[in-house]
Amino acid sequence: MSFKINDKVTWIGKIDWELRQFHGYEYSVHRGSSYNAYLIRDEKNVLIDTVWQPYAKEFIENLKKEIHLNQIDYIIVNHAEVDHSGALSELMKEIPDTPIYCTANGIKSIKGHYHEDWNFVPVKTGDTINIGTNDLIFVEARMLHWPDSMFTYMTNDNILFSNDAFGQHYASEYMYNDLVDPDELYSEAIKYYANILNPFSTLVERKIDELIKLELPVDMICPSHGIIWRKDPLQIVEQYKNWAQAYQENQITIIYDTMWQGTRRMADAIAEGIKSFDSKVNIKLYNASKTDKNDIITEVFKSRAIILGSPTVNGSILTSMAAITDLIKGLRFKNKKAAAFGCYGWSGESLKILNEHLEKAGFEVVSEGIREIWNPDQSALERCRDFGKKFAESL
Ligand code: FEO
Repeated sequence: MSFKINDKVTWIGKIDWELRQFHGYEYSVHRGSSYNAYLIRDEKNVLIDTVWQPYAKEFIENLKKEIHLNQIDYIIVNHAEVDHSGALSELMKEIPDTPIYCTANGIKSIKGHYHEDWNFVPVKTGDTINIGTNDLIFVEARMLHWPDSMFTYMTNDNILFSNDAFGQHYASEYMYNDLVDPDELYSEAIKYYANILNPFSTLVERKIDELIKLELPVDMICPSHGIIWRKDPLQIVEQYKNWAQAYQENQITIIYDTMWQGTRRMADAIAEGIKSFDSKVNIKLYNASKTDKNDIITEVFKSRAIILGSPTVNGSILTSMAAITDLIKGLRFKNKKAAAFGCYGWSGESLKILNEHLEKAGFEVVSEGIREIWNPDQSALERCRDFGKKFAESL
């Protein structure tokens, strides 16, 4: 499949409707994804990025329907992660001398993955190649989200090829932001930001400011996953700037796991207590062993505070809570408050462990938390309601 974006640029990629897990099993993909590569035809012909390796042969066949491979003058690798560079090996078998433009870190990454010494041309911010009526300007985007990431900007047509930035794991045959359901689009865009880009928010903000200072007109943003932003394309840039500034909504998220319902009943009572103090706050409860971890992360991203709950088991916390707290720590959320709770039978370490996890993850732990022995009775649940109320008061 391919389609023309304008008279010079053709989308040539793969819409992966089957995909349900990405980065191994680290990122759930409920709506599939796409690997977007772009072919620019000018006096010089340029290929920007490729697709994931399982679709390499299909990609090359489709590319051959568009252009004789020997007529590709330059290959640009905006980012070497294998979902975009996965067809390089197949492609370079056919056109081994074609120059590959990428950052110096891109060369290291490509060599690290494919162990080939192709004709690399390192580029840095501001480097430009003329391809005829258009120039291509490179803008390094280090750690957005890998050291090698970069953007390519096409003059005259004013297209920003942004690779992962501004992308979404979202399969759609419509392929443009003005044609798809905006709720679906933004729910995938925010999940993508929360789960992939959040640790690099300071760099996101800086890079956006740098792009604004360059005063490059942008008529279209073509990311490497999901749909293309052509209607009011800077809306997603504005949104990223908002998300990068320790984003939060009026939401408190309670994440817990439970063995015999005791900790779950505590979670419900805490939520009641919060509601009794603040009827407007959006309280959401998720059992970590029953809920997709990346969806939980998106809810943490939207929250101004979270409360974690686990019973004590083997002197520790339940494994689902250990996994989600580790994931939360890695994503480096900022400016969020937190507390912990859990029931126990004898030793009762879960509260202390959860508090330690929260502090290490950079949350402001606003109370010592609450633990209740065995299965909470009515007076214990009343204490949980009071705890929830006081927690809400402290925000
Ligand atoms: Fe879509 Fe970082 O690869």
